[in-house]
Amino acid sequence: MKNCRRKFLKFLSLAIFPLSASFLPYTALWAQGTEEAKPPSFTILYTGNTLEEIKPCGCSKEADFGGLPRRAAAIKSVREKEKNVLVLDAGDSLKGSSAQGRLKADFIARALPVMKYNAALAGEKDFAYGPSFFAAQGFGGWLASNLKYPGASFLDIIVKELSTGIRVGIIGLIDPALFPNASHAGISIEPPGKFLKERLASLLRENRVDIPALLFHGSDTQANEILSEFPAIKIIVAGHTDDPENETPKEPVQREERGIFFADNRGRRIGEITVSQGEAPALRHRWITLDASINDDPDMEPLYAEYKESAKKLFMEKSEKGKKARETSPYVSAESCMPCHEKIVSGWRLTRHARALETLESEGGSFDPECVGCHVTGYGSGGYVEREVTPELGNVQCESCHGPGKEHTADSSKPYGKANEETCRRCHTRSKDPRFSFKEYWEKIRHGGE
Ligand code: HEC
Ligand code: HEC
Ligand code: HEC
Ligand code: HEC
Ligand SMILES: [Zn+2]
Repeated sequence: MKNCRRKFLKFLSLAIFPLSASFLPYTALWAQGTEEAKPPSFTILYTGNTLEEIKPCGCSKEADFGGLPRRAAAIKSVREKEKNVLVLDAGDSLKGSSAQGRLKADFIARALPVMKYNAALAGEKDFAYGPSFFAAQGFGGWLASNLKYPGASFLDIIVKELSTGIRVGIIGLIDPALFPNASHAGISIEPPGKFLKERLASLLRENRVDIPALLFHGSDTQANEILSEFPAIKIIVAGHTDDPENETPKEPVQREERGIFFADNRGRRIGEITVSQGEAPALRHRWITLDASINDDPDMEPLYAEYKESAKKLFMEKSEKGKKARETSPYVSAESCMPCHEKIVSGWRLTRHARALETLESEGGSFDPECVGCHVTGYGSGGYVEREVTPELGNVQCESCHGPGKEHTADSSKPYGKANEETCRRCHTRSKDPRFSFKEYWEKIRHGGE
């Protein structure tokens, strides 16, 4: 093992000055290792851009990816097989601020230590609730080497010693461009390039690090620049996205035995990097897709149950307000359209829209404010409140698409209720229903014009 480590350190000194050495393509090097002489290696599991997606809604098979309960199970199963595993997050666990978002933030902050994350970078979205998010719930791995924020203490570097004696040092850097109002919030951020020029060498020396890795939150261009300018950095795990709905994961940029690895959107996949420490240095990458074949980790259940309970409380609070709004509701339900549009109403009753609330109830989502909106009529705008208060406004009814019908039922002479593809896309979003096509779907529920 000693011997091997020495060789590996030799490789590293090369890696730090790659221009002085010529490398074979890593695939050729990797192929030299036979079964018996498998080089010692360690594994990095990485995530990022979770964007509050703590559990998939199950709205469609095509969108059934991700979630922390599956993530926890997948991490566990890698740890059972591999001795040296580092688990990292590249930031943007959160999305924006809302009452329910706060509950999810708490869930995530408590889930990180349960999944034994070694380090999590703070992305700009993670500042939605101020410093308390980073201080809460006993996760000690928040990293932001180039950022200062009163009230939150971030680590500069996290050093993890592997069983082989190798020390991996993780630095976390954030692009200041993502914080246009930084000074207003009392946040100060050093440009990543400046930080690395001035402090990388001493950080690595003081912490006696063998392999420096970087968690980076910013543009791909910047990540590429860092990879080019700082040969000492071997692995960059990058977070942040400008297109959170994008379904296609970004493949890594690999240059010889170094690389940039981009976190997938909305926690759909975990990235796995295998770093070989043998004579033949190599980085291998694969995606672990968190689909329905992965069962939820039971360790995550109590936390998730607590989240659900709090979400239900929030729902009830909203209900109280909703009951008052109901008294002046502009919604009248499909029943009221019956006298004049009988054929359309009977046709609608046979569609899945007419059962959307039952579907939700069978999934336990009917008390979740984040589910209800698309499965009922007029939620949050004076319509559906909850089953017991407004039984007549469950499901996706006429007024979900045509708008409140009180005035129209009283006087049908004025124009009312234009609906089109845009209307559908309020609910059939890219993330909830990726295969939505107006032409095909409208065919299934076509009415009117007769
Ligand atoms: C009292 C009878 C009556 C009731 C009740 C009624 N409608 Fe109508 N609706 C009409 C008439 C009449 C028209 C006009 C038909 C036409 O011009 O071809 C109309 C037209 C419409 C149109 C087309 C409007 C436009 O500007 O092109 C929509 C959409 C519509 N109704 C939906 C509904 C819905 C939804 C309900 C229940 C919430 C409802 N209607 C209840 C009589 C009624
Ligand atoms: C208020 C939210 C909402 C709007 C607006 C909406 N839908 Fe839906 N739609 C749903 C929900 C929820 C389901 C699933 C219901 C279920 O299966 O319980 C669904 C299901 C469907 C289905 C059945 C899918 C299948 O695989 O058979 C079709 C078809 C459909 N919608 C078409 C449309 C079209 C076309 C529009 C626009 C004209 C539209 N929807 C607008 C919420 C909505
Ligand atoms: C943005 C709107 C939207 C939200 C929010 C939403 N859904 Fe849906 N849901 C839909 C649409 C649209 C469909 C129909 C998809 C299709 O037919 O492919 C659907 C379908 C479903 C189905 C039926 C799946 C099937 O294949 O039979 C379930 C179950 C479901 N949703 C549960 C949930 C749960 C649980 C939540 C909250 C975590 C939720 N939904 C939040 C829009 C939404
Ligand atoms: C999922 C969305 C959706 C639901 C639910 C829905 N509609 Fe429609 N409706 C539309 C769309 C889209 C059109 C087509 C508009 C067009 O072609 O201009 C339409 C057309 C109509 C028209 C004819 C308007 C015209 O100009 O000819 C009437 C009337 C109507 N709907 C009534 C109803 C009634 C009554 C219900 C409930 C039983 C209902 N709709 C449910 C989306 C919906
Ligand atoms: Zn970001």
